Amino acid sequence: MTALDATGLRYSYPDGTLAVDGVDVTVETGERVALLGPNGAGKSTVLQLLGGLIDPDAGTVRYFDETTDADAVRDRLSVLTQNPADYLFNPTVREDLRYGPAQQDRSESEVDRRVERVADRLDLGELLSKPPFRLSGGQQRRAALASALTVEPDLLLLDEPVSNVDAANRAEVLALFSELAADGVTLVTSTPDTELVAHVADRVVLFDETGTVAARGSTREILTDTELLTDCDLRPPQVVRLFDGRGDIPLTVAEARRRLDER
Ligand SMILES: Nc1ncnc2c1ncn2[C@@H]1O[C@H](COP(=O)(O)OP(=O)(O)O)[C@@H](O)[C@H]1O
Ligand SMILES: [Mg+2]
Repeated sequence: MTALDATGLRYSYPDGTLAVDGVDVTVETGERVALLGPNGAGKSTVLQLLGGLIDPDAGTVRYFDETTDADAVRDRLSVLTQNPADYLFNPTVREDLRYGPAQQDRSESEVDRRVERVADRLDLGELLSKPPFRLSGGQQRRAALASALTVEPDLLLLDEPVSNVDAANRAEVLALFSELAADGVTLVTSTPDTELVAHVADRVVLFDETGTVAARGSTREILTDTELLTDCDLRPPQVVRLFDGRGDIPLTVAEARRRLDER
């Protein structure tokens, strides 16, 4: 089944900037896909179009082979935009986390259960009673992510979900994404960070600087094509640069260590 099928997306901002110029994105259920590209490539705009937060000037987005109306699938779809403040507008973080499932008319106890579970998983314990604007940038991003997760979506669209998040919390968030994927949740992650891609995606849609798709392929195909990445103003991951031209190229440090140990 297809979770997301977008064709011919085009979008210009009111000031005339053509941000997305004929983009197709298809994501099968349970897939992990990265939207990779340099700053200004149009990734965030595409993600907002995919999430139904803005309407395209041309093109359509179809959800779960069912509908082109994002509002009809709000229960199954969560979008984390680039700006955590979009999700943090209540007096406390706890109320922000309660907001989504409460909108879905879940029972009080079910809402509480979800908030506790996600807060526990993302180590938000002491932050729950705080006003969100008191949180640091990385904490706000984790809180915003938590609020996107309490609706327990089938399809999760994430814009730079770990930028500003410290190493320990980042590892926790990435582990959580792996668990969600193992549970069958479809994950689409936008990032300019080639180092992140192998941790969040099996397939990549690569954008160039002009709001169009430059290439698509498996994470391995894209990350090991150093010329293609450089042409798109991106730097190949460090381990790829290290092992480039030396046989089987690892995509992560963990993979590289295994390779070295085998020698
Ligand atoms: N609200 C806006 N008004 C005008 N131009 C915008 C707006 N938001 C983004 N843009 C422009 O649209 C293009 C794509 O931006 P964006 O989708 O944010 O790219 P990315 O997420 O890949 O960095 C950029 O040229 C950016 O400057
Ligand atoms: Mg962006």
